[in-house]
Amino acid sequence: MGMKIGIFDSGLGGLSVLNEALSKLSEHEFLYYADVKNVPYGQKSRDEILKFSFDAVKFLIENGAEAVVVACNTATSVAIKELRANLSVPIIGMEPAVKKAHDLSCDDALKTLVIATPVTVNGAKLKELITNLNAKDKTELLALPRLVNFAENSEFDSQSVKSYLKEELAKFDLSKFDFLVLGCTHFNYFKDSLREILPSNVSIIDGNEGTIKRLISELGLAVSNANLTPNVKFFYSGEEVCEQSELEKISRNLARLEKMRAIS
Ligand code: DGL
Repeated sequence: MGMKIGIFDSGLGGLSVLNEALSKLSEHEFLYYADVKNVPYGQKSRDEILKFSFDAVKFLIENGAEAVVVACNTATSVAIKELRANLSVPIIGMEPAVKKAHDLSCDDALKTLVIATPVTVNGAKLKELITNLNAKDKTELLALPRLVNFAENSEFDSQSVKSYLKEELAKFDLSKFDFLVLGCTHFNYFKDSLREILPSNVSIIDGNEGTIKRLISELGLAVSNANLTPNVKFFYSGEEVCEQSELEKISRNLARLEKMRAIS
């Protein structure tokens, strides 16, 4: 018997985590919660994000989720401790994959650029992670809030997206970096545009695989690659998504994310 697993994001960025989950855990049932009424979280106050996160995760539990993945670095940064302390199911969080970059580098000099939302970039959680890895001197942070709006509007590789990325990344000498960490799940939609702009010495790293591996190990799940029809219900801020046009948009996004998955 499969489990019911909740996946929550402020919007449609967490579909990248769902996509990863479906590739390994296809016999399970998923509930995907996008808080589209309140997206973007990355520029909201910590109190607001805390409240939205509780509303979403409680909703998923009330609807039968036996475990919840917070597929949002911003919500994890603000709310994960409180969620775990107050709710009774396993809750898996998501943080920028700085540790993965760190583990991949055999050379102490290798440099990492983390892109994320303003709340994640300015939050204590990411700073602590970098300090604990002793990686302060070789890690730079950049907030890219507009990417969340572009993603929510299904604008993935327009001229405006590319100019924004070029302009923001021009603040750094990219030839000095080895890793670009996608510290926001929405940023997975832009891997192709990022790849075009980044020099070949920079590898793109996201946290999706690590997050699903943690879900698998915490719950003791068996990995199955059986290509079953995905069993997913989608919710927008507590309302089940039934409209055909929205379900089609979600399918298109998942198809794009599947293409992006191969880019590194
Ligand atoms: N997808 C979210 C993250 O991983 C945040 C996007 C937002 O600003 O709402 O950080």
